[in-house]
Amino acid sequence: MLVLDGKKLSQDIKEELKVKVDLIKAAGGKVPHLVAVLVGENPASKSYVGNKIRFCEEVGYKSTLINASEDISEDELLTIIQDLNDDEEVDGYIVQLPLPKHIDEMKINLAIDYRKDVDGFHPMNFGRMAEGMSSYLPATPAGIMEILDRYDIDTDGKHCVVVGRSNIVGTPISILLSRKGRPGNCTVTLAHSRTKDIKAELLRADIIIAAIGIPEFIKGDMVKEGAVVIDVGINRVEDASKKSGYRLVGDVAYDEIAEKASAMTPVPGGVGPMTVTALMLNTLKAATKEIYL
Ligand code: GUN
Repeated sequence: MLVLDGKKLSQDIKEELKVKVDLIKAAGGKVPHLVAVLVGENPASKSYVGNKIRFCEEVGYKSTLINASEDISEDELLTIIQDLNDDEEVDGYIVQLPLPKHIDEMKINLAIDYRKDVDGFHPMNFGRMAEGMSSYLPATPAGIMEILDRYDIDTDGKHCVVVGRSNIVGTPISILLSRKGRPGNCTVTLAHSRTKDIKAELLRADIIIAAIGIPEFIKGDMVKEGAVVIDVGINRVEDASKKSGYRLVGDVAYDEIAEKASAMTPVPGGVGPMTVTALMLNTLKAATKEIYL
């Protein structure tokens, strides 16, 4: 079984990005600037945003963290967004999700200038993606595509089952894998909580993308021999033997599936690091105005 090592790929891309940033600096060009907006103190969100800021520092981007209080009003957050839209020095920004319940996430998403939407969540970017046009791809699906591409996984004509229909992972990866191209050209089934017989669907899959958010939901007996398994889940489960009190597990039962899969991503160290990496690739595209002027 081939372990699809997202951590290693992420390191490789980091080195590539460092070289590109050095070239930009040497030519007197604009150093990419990413802003992350974090509302409240959600520990997982803080950790994700911390990873993004650290990655920026490592590759030589400028980064800014705006940490707003949990009780910021929707209007106040919209004002921050307007300021970021207007600030020509800011190439791209993200508003870390989830937001507190009193804030309408879609209203915030729509207020983001799509030219700075390096998360790729704005309908302009989502629509362009669906049309096969250039756009900022959402980070997790883009990271998965990068893994499939760099490990030369054959997707052409394969049957791919995506489990989970979220706007940020399941739905966009189902579109990307069914699009023409490499990776792509898959026959895609998008399974979700209302799917009648998920096991039957999974057993037909050459490629499984697990993005359900339920710890170890997919068991060994639900996977065909030789399948490629991409695990998007990052779930904290209690573990008294760990200093932190928890350990991370994915959406698939790793040890059981490792006996059957031909290739799979570990958790941690699989899709997670590639998600941050994909955001950094988008930020460079924003700074060099590769997609929008
Ligand atoms: N929350 C979970 N994943 C993401 C992501 O990719 N971007 C943002 N902004 N929030 C998230």
